[in-house]
Amino acid sequence: MDSAGGYEEYAFVADLYDWVVPYRNRPDISFFVDAATQAGSPVLEIGCGTGRVLIPSARAGLDVVGLDASSEMLAVCRQRLQQENATVQARVQLVQADMLAFDLQRKFTLITLPFRPFQHLITVEEQRSCLLSIRRHLIEGGRVILDLFNPSLEALVSRPEGQEFGDEPDFSTPDGRRVVRRHRTIAHDRFNQVTHVELIYYVTHPGGREERLVHAFPMRYLFRFEVEHLLVRCGFEVEQLYAGFDRSAYGSRYPGELIFVARKTTRAVGEAA
Ligand SMILES: C[S@@+](CC[C@H](N)C(=O)[O-])C[C@H]1O[C@@H](n2cnc3c(N)ncnc32)[C@H](O)[C@@H]1O
Repeated sequence: MDSAGGYEEYAFVADLYDWVVPYRNRPDISFFVDAATQAGSPVLEIGCGTGRVLIPSARAGLDVVGLDASSEMLAVCRQRLQQENATVQARVQLVQADMLAFDLQRKFTLITLPFRPFQHLITVEEQRSCLLSIRRHLIEGGRVILDLFNPSLEALVSRPEGQEFGDEPDFSTPDGRRVVRRHRTIAHDRFNQVTHVELIYYVTHPGGREERLVHAFPMRYLFRFEVEHLLVRCGFEVEQLYAGFDRSAYGSRYPGELIFVARKTTRAVGEAA
């Protein structure tokens, strides 16, 4: 497994990503663009992928650095950027790096992790290392937005291992491939809060050839109070916790999302004064 949740290992994921219906319809773009506009430039987006959120942020007038571990995802992002005007292009810098530990030699007003990249970090030490890197890259009073899913206890208990599920709409790519995507849980590691998942793409090519492509990766799930403790330990104060991108309060629906807005405090636990 690569360090990018399979986004580097399986090149087909970057190729298909922008056409997957739940990704295209994800209602988070204005949430992140508004937060970045409020914070002001420069903004760092971690796990920027193909630029789904990053490009609208640059279009809104923000200077954005996009960091991602996957050269494949960044290559698609670069292609998409080439279709933007020169002013938008000039606002974006892309960096291939691992969010686990990075050093960009500059600071940001806001650092965001849209659509759950943080959940590709499996251990507490990895999470802590990432949050401390984030903290070092924030100005005093700067903020981080962690976008996680709120684990559904029902799904954790009842979802069987090995069976395909999912009812997403099919999609087509511009070159005429038809794609049906399904999901599969391979194993539950309930002690370490890790689900080993597969995203399975059934592709039919224009000539009729069929392919089954599998994106397999582990996904760490985190509970609300665990994240609060982790953030405090790493030198952040939780300001907001939302259940959705409409800014509805955590607890107003179940399971909803787990979207933390946290502000850098003067010191992380154990850090010298
Ligand atoms: C679900 S995609 C989200 C992409 C984008 N943020 C979006 O909202 O469409 C997760 C992204 O996290 C990136 N990623 C996973 N692990 C990473 C790591 N350790 N360091 C940096 N990026 C990572 C992947 O390459 C992928 O682009």
